[in-house]
Amino acid sequence: MTKLWAGRTAAETAQLADDFNSSIAFDSRMAKQDITGSMAHAAMLGAKGIITEDEAARLIDGLQGILDDLESGALPIDMQAEDIHMFVEQVLTQRLGEVGKKLHTARSRNDQVALDFRMYLRDEIDTLTALTKTLAAVLCDKAEEYKDAIMPGYTHLQRAQPVTFGHQLMAYAMMLVRDLGRLSDCRRRLNVSPIGCCALAGTTYDTDREMEAGALGFDGICLNSIDGVSDRDFAAELCAALSIEMMHLSRLSEELILWSSWEFQFIELPDAYTTGSSIMPQKKNPDMAELVRGKTGRVYGDLMGILTVLKGLPLAYNKDMQEDKEGVFDACDTAKLCLEVMAGMLPGMKARREKMLKAASEGFINATDLADYLVTKGLPFRSAYKLSGSAVAQCIREGKTLETVSLEEYQKISPLIEADIYEHIDLGTCVSRRVSAGGTSVGSVEKQIAAVREFLSE
Ligand code: ARG
Repeated sequence: MTKLWAGRTAAETAQLADDFNSSIAFDSRMAKQDITGSMAHAAMLGAKGIITEDEAARLIDGLQGILDDLESGALPIDMQAEDIHMFVEQVLTQRLGEVGKKLHTARSRNDQVALDFRMYLRDEIDTLTALTKTLAAVLCDKAEEYKDAIMPGYTHLQRAQPVTFGHQLMAYAMMLVRDLGRLSDCRRRLNVSPIGCCALAGTTYDTDREMEAGALGFDGICLNSIDGVSDRDFAAELCAALSIEMMHLSRLSEELILWSSWEFQFIELPDAYTTGSSIMPQKKNPDMAELVRGKTGRVYGDLMGILTVLKGLPLAYNKDMQEDKEGVFDACDTAKLCLEVMAGMLPGMKARREKMLKAASEGFINATDLADYLVTKGLPFRSAYKLSGSAVAQCIREGKTLETVSLEEYQKISPLIEADIYEHIDLGTCVSRRVSAGGTSVGSVEKQIAAVREFLSE
């Protein structure tokens, strides 16, 4: 097959080499960005007099026609083409003749592909941001619904202190708020234009890189042309941000799986997002949550992939860099899907308040509150802690809970204990007294919800 770049070599390339070399199967998803970028390039060439204004107008018109035909399906992508950049230029030249060959003045595929990739990922970041916001809003709504549902809070997966389900859910909303921050940081560093760096050294033409960057919505330009065509930090950074976000979704998934198990029975996931077993009729499997947890591994793999492709590359462009896209696309696709599934599933999740409360009532999770009570009666905390511990030990020996120990028995443990102890170690009291900022009381959780909602509305 004769190439647009034919000239240096006489013989045709082998079909196998062409197939191996081609990236159109995956970079065709950047068609829109490629064409939009080329339109801005043609406009700049015209404005600077590098080509005539009339030629620029014809190129822009031709590019628009290609975009329309791709979108309507009238123009199928030629899978024999080397990549999306070559394909668009080839079609343009077929359609416009000689003038089509002027588009590639004062640029190279090296800055072109860097431009397309940045623009594509910028769009992806915007979509990911919107989906993350939706999920965070869902978590706020659920937290509101369950801001007074008492459950055991855990450390070491041992019952630790009473919290509310709303409080626990808001912890995940906070993670998503940080994820939004990472996406926006990544977007800010990504949003500088490499076009005009050309092959690596810049160009002899009197171009206006700022004009092109501005037309394409960039905040500025890459200041070093060698860096401009070699930099893929934005792709690695996005994969890193998505890896962290997936880690959050995976931790949430893990809890959904645990909580919906027969052992916990804290929640019920909606039928629309669970599956049955082909053999065991009693089963309701949390497949969606498990898949989110599993797909987290893919995204970590995508991050390692891009870092590894880049680590040994000398400046500037190397063909290895064609391997930068598929993994990053996969990371974006996977994260988008997982965010959508989570936001679809969680509104239908039902908490079983009575099961949560029962679990909270059985594990001595008010032992800290018994100690705190003794502190209010004048004991130093360490001594109070010891007495509370011995009360728990006694309860375990006698098959009781702290609530069912009689006042007489309490007074044997410490004469400081009076009848108000029961009110003090009531789980409702334990929760409502934790009014510290960020704490589990209803008022504290309401403030957390309000803060996240305000952040989301900005
Ligand atoms: N398909 C190539 C890629 O994705 C485009 C850039 C090709 N540049 C080059 N000098 N061969 O990286």
